[in-house]
Amino acid sequence: MLPTKLAVPLLILLFYSSFISSQAALPLQTPIQKDHSTSQYVITAYLQTPLKLTKLLLDLGATYTWVNCDGYTSSTYQHVPCNSSIANLLGAYACLDLCDGPPGPNCGNNSFLLFPDNPIKPVDYKKVKGINIALIDSFALSTTQGSLTLINNFIFSCARTGFLKGLAKGVAGLAALGRSNVSIPVQFNRFFSSTPNCFAICLSGSKSQPGVALFGSKGPYDFLPGIDLSKSLLYTPLISNPFGKDSDPDKPRSSPEYYIGLNSIKVNGKMVALNKSLLAIDGETGPGGTTISTVVPYTKLQRSIYKTFILAFLKEAASPAFNLTATKPVKPFGVCYPASAVKNTQMGPAVPIIDLVLDRQDVVWKIFGSNSMVRITKKSVDLWCLGFVDAGVNPMVSSWIGGPSIVIGGHQLEDNMLQFDLQSKRLGFSSSLLSKGTNCANFKFSTKNM
Ligand SMILES: *[C@@H]1O[C@H](CO)[C@@H](O)[C@H](O)[C@H]1NC(C)=O
Ligand SMILES: *[C@@H]1O[C@H](CO)[C@@H](O)[C@H](O)[C@H]1NC(C)=O
Ligand SMILES: *[C@@H]1O[C@H](CO)[C@@H](O)[C@H](O)[C@H]1NC(C)=O
Ligand SMILES: *[C@@H]1O[C@H](CO)[C@@H](O)[C@H](O)[C@H]1NC(C)=O
Ligand SMILES: *[C@@H]1O[C@H](CO)[C@@H](O)[C@H](O)[C@H]1NC(C)=O
Repeated sequence: MLPTKLAVPLLILLFYSSFISSQAALPLQTPIQKDHSTSQYVITAYLQTPLKLTKLLLDLGATYTWVNCDGYTSSTYQHVPCNSSIANLLGAYACLDLCDGPPGPNCGNNSFLLFPDNPIKPVDYKKVKGINIALIDSFALSTTQGSLTLINNFIFSCARTGFLKGLAKGVAGLAALGRSNVSIPVQFNRFFSSTPNCFAICLSGSKSQPGVALFGSKGPYDFLPGIDLSKSLLYTPLISNPFGKDSDPDKPRSSPEYYIGLNSIKVNGKMVALNKSLLAIDGETGPGGTTISTVVPYTKLQRSIYKTFILAFLKEAASPAFNLTATKPVKPFGVCYPASAVKNTQMGPAVPIIDLVLDRQDVVWKIFGSNSMVRITKKSVDLWCLGFVDAGVNPMVSSWIGGPSIVIGGHQLEDNMLQFDLQSKRLGFSSSLLSKGTNCANFKFSTKNM
């Protein structure tokens, strides 16, 4: 179905062959930089022809990548014909039969349409002008050897400048790593089918030193000082929720979020009494369960879980081992302590350890002070606050689809290695790397200037 224009990238490849290769050895690596004014995590990719450095918001729960197409120029882009195998891969959305404007990335006849969304500031389709066309174009990431690896048929959506509201400065779109047919890892795996269908992320909270995303590798994951983190992961199944946010009342669409089976929470080794039905996904309509998100800065808990959890934390923190007395909290947090009262350890502030007990009693994600507490220093206050927030009574992901009861957010993911094995449908996780004497900024990038 696709026109002959696809031959063009090959010519361009010859041109750049000294540093771009479509055969280059995987795995691919890309730095993940935290933007501190928004708490967003941003990756660096290369798009268009000639390739252009493009910063994208990292979203573990998005179906497809999108890029602002206002001002998009490329000699290789293609639209997706409505009746094509690629359109089938994307699922039935909508078709633009005729576009009467000048031809361009966002205007073409018989073009498949998509509905990109911004997870930070949801797009109001009644207000934004224009349609968003699916595109195929060149997309490249750097390899562990420091060169670029290109796929010339990357599928994504065009969007408009207005879609960038709320995103970190310099970001031109969104990088989809969600559970879908067209996420970045799945498209790379389709192109390089001999590589493992697996990706890993390690988020760094550092202002200057990035973390890393790795595609097409189950390891080794080499971190300074000489630690292969692929050897120290625990595993839990990745669960799918058949009712995602794009579901229609008569047509369920599975969720692009990665769910894990959280069975209980312990604080300082003591079980927190939680309503078990909230921890499971409701198989009828979708609410409940636990997801992992890079676009939520702090873990969000359904209100009854939140209330029970913070009471348990307050009680354990007040025990003689910690002897902490809470002070007036600072929003959005509900529990804060004067920083002067909290001791520091190698694992961050000395507070009760939080255990997320997963599918088995011995599969435990441990959250130490460095991941549970947030330092707030402003005006006259200097506090350590518990970095968990209230998600309300009925979290929703669309007007009729219920949301997860627990969303594990970015602050809790920092300096943890997470491996998403899409083949075996399991999550590998490390808990805090600080206990292993390393952190996410210690990944051994082959070249620092990619
Ligand atoms: C779409 O494709 C199917 C199968 O290839 C074909 O039978 C049908 O006629 C096509 N429809 C259009 C509108 O091109
Ligand atoms: C992925 O594509 C297949 C067809 O190749 C389709 O049956 C399936 O529903 C798609 N999955 C999603 C999540 O869109
Ligand atoms: C779409 O087709 C119509 C009729 O054939 C033509 O006038 C128009 O220029 C085309 N639009 C684009 C963007 O190619
Ligand atoms: C547990 O949560 C479910 C779903 O929200 C609710 O229907 C049920 O009443 C709750 N049970 C208790 C004991 O609070
Ligand atoms: C606990 O803290 C209070 C003040 O915050 C202090 O007076 C008391 O001596 C402390 N107790 C222990 C056992 O450290």
